[in-house]
Amino acid sequence: TIAVITIDGPSASGKGTVAARVARLLGFAYLDSGALYRLTALHAKRSSVSWNDEEAVAALARALPAEFRDDAVFLAGEFVEAEIRSEEIGMGASAIAALPAVRAALLERQRAYRQAPGLVTDGRDMGSVVFPDATLKVFLTAGADVRADRRYKQLISKGDSANLPRILQDIHERDARDAARTVAPLRQEPDARLLDTSDMTVEQAVESVLAWYRE
Ligand code: CDP
Repeated sequence: TIAVITIDGPSASGKGTVAARVARLLGFAYLDSGALYRLTALHAKRSSVSWNDEEAVAALARALPAEFRDDAVFLAGEFVEAEIRSEEIGMGASAIAALPAVRAALLERQRAYRQAPGLVTDGRDMGSVVFPDATLKVFLTAGADVRADRRYKQLISKGDSANLPRILQDIHERDARDAARTVAPLRQEPDARLLDTSDMTVEQAVESVLAWYRE
């Protein structure tokens, strides 16, 4: 059987960084499921399809010309890494992620990333919906203030401007939306291990996941 490690958690928790490193250390494939939602939002915007038009967005998601190469994201062959990480596309991703037909359209594509010797994937519903039979499920979180601080430092290090109180407010709003939505609301699965990284370095978080995997 092929190993699958799912790492779900809230916005700006650092789950993507941890998931990518665990994948590299184990020699597994890595799937950033949030990137698929972001790519779908960008694809809709470029196709002049409204983020509210469930059927039209789902049709775009079903035939999404997305590709992951060397840790970078491409849409129809174009390098779009910076664009999909923008605040605007983040909002669009959050909007379309609440549409059941869009989630259904991306389901089989996500499952197709399962490959030997294994897969590490991060998102909101990787352990609950996409890979309910995963080898190891992790719920990775951190306090809202810690997550705001991490996002702030990330933006500053890229040379972008950033406002800490506003970032903290955004995180609270995103948490509320993620928990309240009717499809795939964010919550810890009963069989997921809780990893609170508030007082951990990335290395310590990676070590915890690897230790659980080796158990
Ligand atoms: O963590 P952050 O919100 O910064 O970004 P992300 O992980 O790239 O996710 C982008 C959007 O897609 C979020 O609004 C998530 O709620 C949504 N998403 C989802 O609904 N299901 C997933 N498996 C992954 C992301």
